[in-house]
Amino acid sequence: MSKVIQSIRGMNDILPEETPYWQFLENAVREILSSYGYGEIRFPIVEHTELFKRSIGEVTDIVEKEMYSFGGEDNLKYSLRPEGTAACVRAGISNGLFYNQTQKLWYMGPMFRHERPQKGRYRQFHQIGAEVFGYGGPDVDAELIILSARLWKKLGLNPSLEINSIGSIETRGNYRNALLSYFTKHKDQLDADSLRRLERNPLRILDSKVPQTQDLVKDAPIMSDYLSDLEKAHFAGLKNFLDDASIEYTVNPRLVRGLDYYSLTVFEWLTDKLGAQNAICSGGRYDGLVEQLGGKPTQAVGWALGIERVIELMKQANTSIEIQKLDLFLVSGNTPELKREAFRLSEGLRDALNGVKLAVYCGEAGIKSQMKKADKSEARFALILGEDESASTTVVLKDLRQRAAQETIAQKDLIKVLSERLAS
Ligand code: HAM
Repeated sequence: MSKVIQSIRGMNDILPEETPYWQFLENAVREILSSYGYGEIRFPIVEHTELFKRSIGEVTDIVEKEMYSFGGEDNLKYSLRPEGTAACVRAGISNGLFYNQTQKLWYMGPMFRHERPQKGRYRQFHQIGAEVFGYGGPDVDAELIILSARLWKKLGLNPSLEINSIGSIETRGNYRNALLSYFTKHKDQLDADSLRRLERNPLRILDSKVPQTQDLVKDAPIMSDYLSDLEKAHFAGLKNFLDDASIEYTVNPRLVRGLDYYSLTVFEWLTDKLGAQNAICSGGRYDGLVEQLGGKPTQAVGWALGIERVIELMKQANTSIEIQKLDLFLVSGNTPELKREAFRLSEGLRDALNGVKLAVYCGEAGIKSQMKKADKSEARFALILGEDESASTTVVLKDLRQRAAQETIAQKDLIKVLSERLAS
């Protein structure tokens, strides 16, 4: 026997028993986002590596060690997208979407990061993201958060919200200097990763998961002390909108996010039900990014949720999702003539009964074993076409979910009978 080829570590198959959750979530997002006036955008899975380096930042986990890159002399020409924001901005600039217009966009699809796989953290994972361009006020920041809260409600989830403001690039420069001098004073207590980040990006030290560094972070300078009056007003404005919408939140002054493009508002929806991978949806404002990537200055804000994590939570919360079951399962005698008749009959039913979910048995089994398959399929009714039925142009209708007696129905009446039964 040939050697079996395994799937790649951290990249999962999503099987038919799982996909109803995905479809339910995708439909809920589609419904809510379109009701708020957001349009769907689709962009490629592969982009120039340069795009992610210039947007996410050279000194970030993603760019330093997590991208799948290939092509060119140093194999750094193209990368599988590790996230959607940079690609969405690139697509917006390429297609002139930011000229004299605002945009409210959303997307979904696979993202790739070469992280150490564990529960809730995968190398191919899926995000749904929303990005808004051309609005500078806190109202859109709030709208994005409020519509995500609406999504949690629809999914029966109850995550908690953390928000923070990390100010403008200028404010962050001052804050950066304050952090630099604080952490330099305590250099001997920093872990190796944080030490490496000290000169290039000390804000990222606030994100460190190393306990000893976390202790040090507790007494580090706080961003809010460095915000300008305008930045404080933006943050206060956001909080007012959230209060008006009765959305609970905690201000976490240490929340900085692991990507470099953010300014002002940052936020995360967190859960205590998924272990270490506790963020289900994260985002913030990134007013400088469009210009940084060659577009004209355009204010922007967005979020992305991790589909795998949200689905795990839905399962834990027993979110009731509608599983689309078959209406009919057609079984027939195992002869070429009866099979052809079954196919003709089933196509006629599909033409006449709009949206009917009908499976026809394909294969070489006898009626008895086909009936077992019909039962297992969870279809509501079985239709049976044997020699006798064919001879009398009838078909047997059997309710598989109730113990009612089976009925013989003339084929000419079948559509009428089924429309009545399926409607009840
Ligand atoms: P992010 O925090 O890197 O932000 O990812 C957003 C969400 O994707 C996370 O909250 C998490 O739920 C999920 N996620 C991230 N990495 C993994 C992984 N390896 N396995 C499973 N799920 C994962 C961004 O990507 C930004 N682009 C968000 C954004 C949009 N900011 C503004 N607009």
